[in-house]
Amino acid sequence: MPNFGFSDDEARDISAFLIAQSTKLNVPPPAVTQPAADSSGEGSSLYGESFCASCHAMQNAAGMLVGGNVGPELTRVGSKVKPEWLVSWLSNPGNWSPNTVMPHYRFDAKQLGLLARYLGSQTDSGFLAHVSLSPATQEQIDHGRRLVNERGCASCHVINGIKKPDNFAPDLTDVGSRSLAKIVFVPGVEHDLPSYLAAKIRIPHQFGSAMKMPQFTLTTTQIDALVNALLAQTERAEGLPANLRVPGTAPSDYEPAGPAGQLIADLRCFSCHSINGRGGDMAPDLSIEGSAVQRPWLVSFLKAPNTLRPALIRRMPRFNLSDKDAQTLADYILTVYQTPAFDAASLPASSFTQAQRDHGKQLFYSKYACQSCHIVDPNTDKGYIGPTLTKAGLRLNAAWIVNYLKDPEKLRPGTIEPNQHIPDEDARDLAAFLMAQTKTPKENGK
Ligand code: HEC
Ligand code: HEC
Ligand code: HEC
Ligand code: HEC
Repeated sequence: MPNFGFSDDEARDISAFLIAQSTKLNVPPPAVTQPAADSSGEGSSLYGESFCASCHAMQNAAGMLVGGNVGPELTRVGSKVKPEWLVSWLSNPGNWSPNTVMPHYRFDAKQLGLLARYLGSQTDSGFLAHVSLSPATQEQIDHGRRLVNERGCASCHVINGIKKPDNFAPDLTDVGSRSLAKIVFVPGVEHDLPSYLAAKIRIPHQFGSAMKMPQFTLTTTQIDALVNALLAQTERAEGLPANLRVPGTAPSDYEPAGPAGQLIADLRCFSCHSINGRGGDMAPDLSIEGSAVQRPWLVSFLKAPNTLRPALIRRMPRFNLSDKDAQTLADYILTVYQTPAFDAASLPASSFTQAQRDHGKQLFYSKYACQSCHIVDPNTDKGYIGPTLTKAGLRLNAAWIVNYLKDPEKLRPGTIEPNQHIPDEDARDLAAFLMAQTKTPKENGK
């Protein structure tokens, strides 16, 4: 959000207008259990295991900002939003903002109470100290509406009763070919196009106090990057023959079907995962997940995710799914998200012999030294680069392991797993060894 340099009165009037034009949302308030007074620890744990920090940053006790920037910073959210709005938002963000990327977690009344109390206590007493507003007058509301129209707020925001302005700002299609004669320079700015563009982006109002372009907070590097991009917007670039253009990839409109499709939309899996070319890059691609994993593991992971890749900062959030929803999702993933490259059921773990398992163990520890990146036995192995394989036999399919080891990049593009050109027989025996890993040494009584 840029800075428009509003005076206190202007800010007051815009606020009066925005509040006057807002409409009530027709959703009943969710049931909330008021938490005990000392619940902050529980609220903070729930925030942690829900992995809200994948998308939101918050200041920690040391004043460091920790977390992602997909959603707004939450450090002062308790000073910003109303308590009743907060619980309603947390109970289902899609009610307020149908296209939001924030998932619809299945919080129950107790969890809503805990989270709302925890977030509501993230306040900043200084923040609102100098704001005291008397009820808005009609004049203030009208003035606010004029300002919102004049400053083109609706070119970025949807606002009741305000039309998105046409031609609010100059066309930049061939700004890179703009003739210097058409530019009004101000003192202190070199008379060339790059200097003009940089100055204009850095401090727009130095070119006149009536300029409508707002003030952005950009670093010098960001301004340089913007200037470079704008200089490339030339008449020549526009007239470039089609065979010299590199087309961008068209966004995928892939939509999963049925009840699982509804869950995937509601839980916003696409905010983090990519499937069939659509979605984010915060989490592993799921397009062929169904060929990799076993059903019981997948159902329990969806219900209560644990850490798979220790090297990753982000984690799969806990959505509080019901058994039925977790099963619906798992069945869909297992049947639809398959690779045509091999049949996941083609190599049952029961087909392996003890000799193969023993040979696989040797290969794992000696020939390929897989323990440099992986842990099978937590008492001896030290590899933290790859996922822990202690219970690989409960998670993965044998056929997946064989095909993955032979050509990791083919199944997981961009993976760090080295391609060691492992021959078929070695890959099979490594799979035999890994598929026998179904218990931690503790559970084995060691
Ligand atoms: C995949 C990213 C993502 C995750 C995960 C996520 N959020 Fe959000 N959240 C957003 C985005 C984006 C917004 C901005 C509003 C919008 O999209 O309409 C938002 C808005 C909010 C707001 C309103 C803040 C404001 O200043 O208006 C709150 C409160 C919030 N989220 C809390 C949470 C909590 C608590 C969790 C974990 C239980 C969470 N979010 C998980 C993306 C996410
Ligand atoms: C260049 C696009 C842009 C323009 C123009 C713009 N905004 Fe924003 N505004 C944003 C973004 C993006 C956010 C979300 C917060 C952020 O990321 O800074 C935001 C946030 C807000 C918020 C807080 C909303 C919330 O739920 O947290 C208000 C209020 C607001 N803008 C009002 C205005 C008004 C009034 C104007 C016109 C004077 C305006 N904005 C012009 C991009 C814009
Ligand atoms: C806020 C981001 C986020 C959202 C939303 C999200 N995930 Fe995840 N998911 C992750 C991350 C990060 C991992 C990797 C965790 C790890 O390696 O420890 C992951 C891992 C997984 C895995 C295991 C992948 C593997 O390597 O076997 C599956 C399956 C999965 N997610 C399914 C889903 C489904 C289905 C949805 C929607 C219902 C979903 N995820 C929504 C972040 C997310
Ligand atoms: C340089 C470090 C490194 C070495 C050496 C290595 N791996 Fe991996 N391995 C990884 C990483 C990183 C991943 C996670 C891949 C991802 O998230 O895409 C992985 C994933 C795996 C997986 C799980 C694949 C999945 O789909 O979840 C298996 C099984 C595996 N490795 C087996 C082995 C075996 C067997 C060896 C020895 C032949 C080996 N790895 C050697 C880094 C390594």
